[in-house]
Amino acid sequence: MTLLANSAAARDIENQVHPQTNLRLHREQGPFIVDKGAGVRVFDDDGRDYIETVAGLWCAALGFSANERIAKVAYEQLRTLGYYHSYRHRANHPSIDLAETLMRLAPVPMSKALFFSSGSEANDTAVKLAWYYHHAIGKPEKNKIIGRDKGYHGSTIGAISVSGKPDMHADFGLPLPQFRHAEMPHYYRFAEPGESEADFATRLADNLEKLILDEGPETVAAFFAEPVMGAGGGIVPPESYFEKVQAVLRRYEVLFVADEVICGFGRTGNWWGSQTFDLQPDMISCAKALSAAFQPISALLVNEKIYQAMLTESDKLGSFAHGSTYSGHPVATAVAREVIAIYEEEDLIGHAARVGGHMLRRLSELAEHPLVGDVTGVGLLTGVELVQDKATRQPYDPEFGLGARIDRHGHQNGLILRVVGDRIVFAPPLIISEGEVDEAVDRFRRTLDDTWAEVRELT
Ligand SMILES: Cc1ncc(COP(=O)(O)O)c(C=O)c1O
Repeated sequence: MTLLANSAAARDIENQVHPQTNLRLHREQGPFIVDKGAGVRVFDDDGRDYIETVAGLWCAALGFSANERIAKVAYEQLRTLGYYHSYRHRANHPSIDLAETLMRLAPVPMSKALFFSSGSEANDTAVKLAWYYHHAIGKPEKNKIIGRDKGYHGSTIGAISVSGKPDMHADFGLPLPQFRHAEMPHYYRFAEPGESEADFATRLADNLEKLILDEGPETVAAFFAEPVMGAGGGIVPPESYFEKVQAVLRRYEVLFVADEVICGFGRTGNWWGSQTFDLQPDMISCAKALSAAFQPISALLVNEKIYQAMLTESDKLGSFAHGSTYSGHPVATAVAREVIAIYEEEDLIGHAARVGGHMLRRLSELAEHPLVGDVTGVGLLTGVELVQDKATRQPYDPEFGLGARIDRHGHQNGLILRVVGDRIVFAPPLIISEGEVDEAVDRFRRTLDDTWAEVRELT
């Protein structure tokens, strides 16, 4: 592809590095520039529309352009107090309002909110607080953190160490030494023949217990889990999984951190994934739909037990020595507060549950397609697993690049898809209507047909 000198694409290649991008390929093919957004659609520079089936990065809950109401709140807050920090006892009204709102909405009693700008920072803070807590209670040797294979908690050093992402550890010298990873609860892929969901869940919980015992329970600080694994492929936990896992954590006094960065604020059809799966976490990280992605903001909610430990440490050391320049940013917190008010007034969470049911039904119709092995979902989050052989569940050889082919055909059919290995995950903006779901599913069916035609030509 030849790019015009000084075109936006050429300037992009010249000046910017993109995350999660093949840098060499980017130099050759240039960027896909998204020019504007409206509802669940984004438009390229030529005005072509694409339905965004994963809300950008699972975050644009209200679609891709803010309404007047949100824009006005941002504008007015920028004019009144465009910035102030929260260090050394400083506060601002929007962050006070948002913290209070989060305490009211939390799925289990929580004591305080800490604000940051990204999910990664919230999870890094949860790692630090798991260590801090155990220092406070006189057990500093309890410092190992357990995540799960293919779990994703962010890209900063702590968050990616908890994540079970070898592709993101490679050549960064990560994960840090005290991080461990338990199995992922992917029933379709890892259940043994004839094993029920409940038996699979028991096996995984038993293996988690074995891991804790092998490490020594006196060395294990915390376990991190997303209620539904997002970047791992939209993996809905099997029946009774979290009940059994939480019993193990309680037995060995291991803290539980629920990463609600994707699931929080309606994605699973309830306000929190913790409600959908009956979780009792000690800390909850959230971001993304917290502000419908209109401002970069995240929060970590901590329960009273953690807060009391923080008080103890602050008494001992003189202050709580952690935070960032943008913690409790007035514009970000004001926008998040307004976004949550809209969710409440418009019952967007109920809408997500209803339209989510429709999306799962419509995508399940594709189970008949020769490429599709499994369709599972909850709320507005559904994973479609592609296989080469439906009977044996044999996947395509990764060398064949099925995912990249689906992605390309999706693009041609006006869809932005999230391909994770052999899985396509649908998590559109929460405002999506049933009609738009139908349109997306029709485009996806054409995408599958086009890919299948190509596969048959090549094999
Ligand atoms: C479950 C989960 N946790 C944490 C993160 C990291 O959030 P951020 O990219 O805002 O740092 C992500 C990002 O996709 C995520 O999916």
